[in-house]
Amino acid sequence: MIQGPQPLPVSLRISVTDRCQVRCFYCMPPEGVPACDHADVLRFEQIVRFVRAVKDHLGLSKAHLTGGEPLVRAGIVDLVSMLAAEGVDDLALTTNGLRLGEMAGDLRAAGLNRVNVSLDSLAEHTFASLTGGGSLQDVLTGIETALAEGLTPVKLNVVVLKGVNDHEVVGLAEWGLQRGCWVRFLELMPIGFAQRQHKDLFVPASEIRKRLEQIFTLEPLAETCGASSRNFMATARDSAGRSGIIGFITPETEPFCRGCRRLRLTSTGRLIACLAQDHGAEIRELLGDAGPAAEQELKETVTHLLGLKGPRTSFPEDRVMSTVGG
Ligand code: GTP
Ligand code: 5AD
Ligand code: SF4
Repeated sequence: MIQGPQPLPVSLRISVTDRCQVRCFYCMPPEGVPACDHADVLRFEQIVRFVRAVKDHLGLSKAHLTGGEPLVRAGIVDLVSMLAAEGVDDLALTTNGLRLGEMAGDLRAAGLNRVNVSLDSLAEHTFASLTGGGSLQDVLTGIETALAEGLTPVKLNVVVLKGVNDHEVVGLAEWGLQRGCWVRFLELMPIGFAQRQHKDLFVPASEIRKRLEQIFTLEPLAETCGASSRNFMATARDSAGRSGIIGFITPETEPFCRGCRRLRLTSTGRLIACLAQDHGAEIRELLGDAGPAAEQELKETVTHLLGLKGPRTSFPEDRVMSTVGG
């Protein structure tokens, strides 16, 4: 039998909560958004049941825990142990870093491989106003602890905003590279609350790159099809010769939809194939039951949703990043 090319493995993003202890202004309004009812949030057993049902079917190689803020979900370290026991090879978590200092050791011991941390500014007042009161020092301590615990590579996510932090990109790159972090610059996506401010705040990656190229030489690294970040080996041109990986995440100017194999499971059990499209499926009912019929239906649902992926349309205003996961 002649076989066609194997599809790329699926990367599953699991949002474990819609809650967060801060309010990044491009993600949530200062008053927050109505929180989901606790009773509607998937239990860990349900999340694991889903992973177990589809892992081999999908060739699931990556699971990425997101939020809201995943580290505010009670018992998150236990979920990491449970997923690690399922044999997910690349188990990662995207966090605001505020609780990482106290939790990195336990997360590592539970089987987490690595973390991505949001870090939009190194200026205390900018950081506090951007996040609605977050402590920059706690995040920096969190990053240092994650590095010391071996949750590597630690990838720093910087959403670049005109007139807010765009003058900091070189400083942020130097800070991250000196510590061995990957530093990734994100274009602001016009999704949810960010839509209203997008026109005023958007900075294209080409501009960020120009600023960085005054200091660094950027050599492109091989691309992974469908990956969110286009990565470069950056080397500072001065004698100190700092080097490391800098990436650009360009949902606006160079969408990375081709080859995208991401699936998102929201904290209340909706499965979403694309951040920018409406189709999805409510699967929580199927997760209450470990029988073969439910398992078969889960497999068919994921196959169907992956088949609906295509070039994105525009981002919907009613889709809140804290609910679907960043
Ligand atoms: P790794 O490279 O494996 O660490 O994963 P990642 O880049 O997906 O991780 P992370 O959670 O840090 O995501 C970084 C950012 O990329 C997110 O916050 C989003 O802004 C953006 N992003 C991630 N997935 C998607 C996607 O499916 N579509 C779009 N448009 N943006 C995405
Ligand atoms: N555009 C780009 N990135 C965003 N994030 C949240 N909202 C947006 C947006 N509108 C990012 C955060 C974090 C991740 C979880 O999602 O900065 O890195
Ligand atoms: Fe994937 Fe949709 Fe994001 Fe494109 S917009 S990368 S298809 S989730």
